[in-house]
Amino acid sequence: MNPFEQFESNVRYYSRRWPAIFSYSQGSVITDEDGKEYLDFFAGAGVLGYGHNNPELVEVAIEHLRSGKLLHSLDTFTTQKRAFLETLEALILKPRGLDMVVQTVGPTGATAVEAALQLAQRLSENRAVIGYEGSYHGMSYRAASISASMAGRQVVAHVGDFVALPFVDRMTERDVELLDAALRQGVKGEKIGAIILEPTQGEGGARPFDPEYLAVVRQKATEYGVIVIADEIQAGVGRTGSFFSFEGSKLDPDIICVSKAISGLGLPMALNLIRRSLDTWNAGEFSGTFRGNNLAFATSARMMEMYWRDESFATATKAKGLTVRSALQSIADCYPELDFDVRGNGLLCGLNVKDTQLADQVTRAAFDRQLIVETCGAGDTVVKLLAPMTTTSEQLHDGLERLSEAFAATLPVKSPALSAR
Ligand SMILES: Cc1ncc(COP(=O)(O)O)c(C=O)c1O
Repeated sequence: MNPFEQFESNVRYYSRRWPAIFSYSQGSVITDEDGKEYLDFFAGAGVLGYGHNNPELVEVAIEHLRSGKLLHSLDTFTTQKRAFLETLEALILKPRGLDMVVQTVGPTGATAVEAALQLAQRLSENRAVIGYEGSYHGMSYRAASISASMAGRQVVAHVGDFVALPFVDRMTERDVELLDAALRQGVKGEKIGAIILEPTQGEGGARPFDPEYLAVVRQKATEYGVIVIADEIQAGVGRTGSFFSFEGSKLDPDIICVSKAISGLGLPMALNLIRRSLDTWNAGEFSGTFRGNNLAFATSARMMEMYWRDESFATATKAKGLTVRSALQSIADCYPELDFDVRGNGLLCGLNVKDTQLADQVTRAAFDRQLIVETCGAGDTVVKLLAPMTTTSEQLHDGLERLSEAFAATLPVKSPALSAR
């Protein structure tokens, strides 16, 4: 029995999917103890959007540690937090016309969701929540209870004051009626206080909402006095080829939850952006010991300076996303009878193979070819690709080739020629 099996809880998961012992990482490559290199198209579930050990951010971190700069600061004022706030305002919020303030919370995405729900309840004076099928918002009790994608495999049951509406990829009149009815009726006697959604769903299957529907969500929420929370924890911070995945729609959220890739270096960090006029928190009302990760403030500020001063990074991410989707389409075209479905937005992409076992087999065959990809979606039928945005074009093609070979090894047809080449 190895020490992991001996000393770790049964709850461990990813080690069962990728049974290597990883030691080093750089960019889009992880190296195991035996020196075997893997292309990482999972990126720590989206945390490592700017690559593993991004060299410039590593230098920021080293300099930070060497010079004895503050590491932990609760929510006191620090030099690093000031630089982070000013950079976020100048490069991200202001150019997007977002008049929002920053609430730093404890280091997980679920904590940001908790804080958003509590603030929404305070503002609307109502507790019930509208969410969507396929949603995932984290594993704290409340966040898990409004995560429809976890139904059936989580310990926490959906509590009574949550309703999951169908996901909307192409809005119909029925979708608007359902939203309106939920807002009117509430849930089990509780009125609706918030609508929470991932404008592009991650765990739900790499799928963007219809932007027209997002506009209706905004309009109806305003009509009913309900708070709109955009959970941008997985799809945000550039993953979809814009800083926030709702950009280009009229969602105009009241609260935006941000985490995962925001430090740029994979450090734990989470925050909410709150519309300034709705920032009704009293001092200390929502707390958390690890709100002041100054190392993460420092690397995050540099990440924004490096990648968000102009449009070039966003444009490159969009182009890489098109490459991935075109390769996925080529794979789908090899198996027309199986009717695979290509999804995605920017570099949050997936191929719905509509079969749990097949998706699992393909990801395992990919791992055999030193490519790390994961499944997601209802029934885990979607092979999801979350390559770091910094992945080089050569690595992208290499990984897509390996995926194509994994399909060919799993399904009895010859390896498709990648149209992306
Ligand atoms: C959209 C979304 N929200 C919230 C979370 C929860 O974040 P954390 O695991 O850091 O609590 C996740 C994690 O995958 C997520 O994808």
